[in-house]
Amino acid sequence: MSKNITPSKKIHSIEDARKLAKKRVPRLMFDFVDGASGDERLCEINSTALDQIRLEPKVLRNIEKRNLKKNFLGNDFNYPFGFAPMGMCNLTWPGADKMLAEESIENNIPICVSMASSTSLEKMYKLSQGHSWLQLYIYQDESFVMELLERAQNTGYKVAILTVDVPIQFRRAKDEKNGFTVPFKIGPKQFFDFATHPRWSLTTLLNGIPKPMNFITSKRGNKFVRSESRGATDWETLKRVRDAWKGKLIVKGVMSPEDAVKIKDTGADAIQVSNHGGRQLESATSSINALPLIRKILGKEFPIIFDSGIRSGSDIVRSLAFGADYAMIGRPLMYGMGADGAKGLRRVLNIIKEELSTTLGLVGLNDINDISSEIIAEKFFKDMKY
Ligand SMILES: Cc1cc2nc3c(=O)[nH]c(=O)nc-3n(C[C@H](O)[C@H](O)[C@H](O)COP(=O)(O)O)c2cc1C
Repeated sequence: MSKNITPSKKIHSIEDARKLAKKRVPRLMFDFVDGASGDERLCEINSTALDQIRLEPKVLRNIEKRNLKKNFLGNDFNYPFGFAPMGMCNLTWPGADKMLAEESIENNIPICVSMASSTSLEKMYKLSQGHSWLQLYIYQDESFVMELLERAQNTGYKVAILTVDVPIQFRRAKDEKNGFTVPFKIGPKQFFDFATHPRWSLTTLLNGIPKPMNFITSKRGNKFVRSESRGATDWETLKRVRDAWKGKLIVKGVMSPEDAVKIKDTGADAIQVSNHGGRQLESATSSINALPLIRKILGKEFPIIFDSGIRSGSDIVRSLAFGADYAMIGRPLMYGMGADGAKGLRRVLNIIKEELSTTLGLVGLNDINDISSEIIAEKFFKDMKY
């Protein structure tokens, strides 16, 4: 690589960022981000299914000026996408949480702070100047979640996300093979991995080994055990969380239309259609396949977020055409930061934003809020009118 070319200049697609990240980040971390459950095919299927949605170009529409702003859950955002919750982001590249927070301000979009975040929810709220939403899992000790909700409320959070698709974890072969654990267990294999990625290792040592800070800052002394079962979570749990949380509540990880209706009836403010980026039920359908069915059963008005498989600005347009109101991006953010830190993240976001705007214009629209199933090329989907 020429000395004057920073890695981000070599990023022309999300796949470019992924390849660069694979070189710079230790295998243990890269595989944790990139990997999925079981045979890992669902991750691929998510993106392929999006890719198979073909849009209809429309011409002579004067699309000189295009609006990408979107109001969602009562907030005016500059774009129809935000950052999906991802645990232990600082493992990908030191300072990742701060980079994401800065981009959430710059772009005026939401950043979902994972319960297993490597920065405390209070600090993330400050770093993102209030653009943070808090994501939660219910572990064995439900009172810990109640403590986090109280902390979030006291900090100023207005939106909480309850992730319900990890009652138990599907096995991830690569993590098993690499010996990925939180906290790290460093044996000869991991030592070799870190030693062959000296930039990551030195920067990580200088910044401090990432830790699950919401647990560490808890007065209750709860320990983060990644494999701990969350299997006892049920409809009663959702009701208790709904009662406890006064702000907006999103339920994430919904793939079944029947579940979606029940969740709406329990009083959630929005549903996030997601198969966890292919990291849970290996044999599930693609997330985009579930979306129109859920939109249809919930009706036109109920707020729906979509994630899993988005790898381009066109994918965001496709998800909006299939019935989503808002989209969340996951791994591409990590690829960008793994490739070139803050610069890599910015490059990935710029690619997505540019493609979003161009796709909108080429389907003959100048406002993101006008996207509907009308822009889909296949007549069958067009006629579904969700
Ligand atoms: C490294 C990593 C960590 C994640 N951690 C969480 C988490 O803590 N909470 C959660 O609700 N989802 C988590 N997710 C799932 C994402 O929020 C999102 O559903 C998924 O990444 C979307 O798929 P995509 O990466 O293909 O875009 C994680 C995903 C990745 C890749």
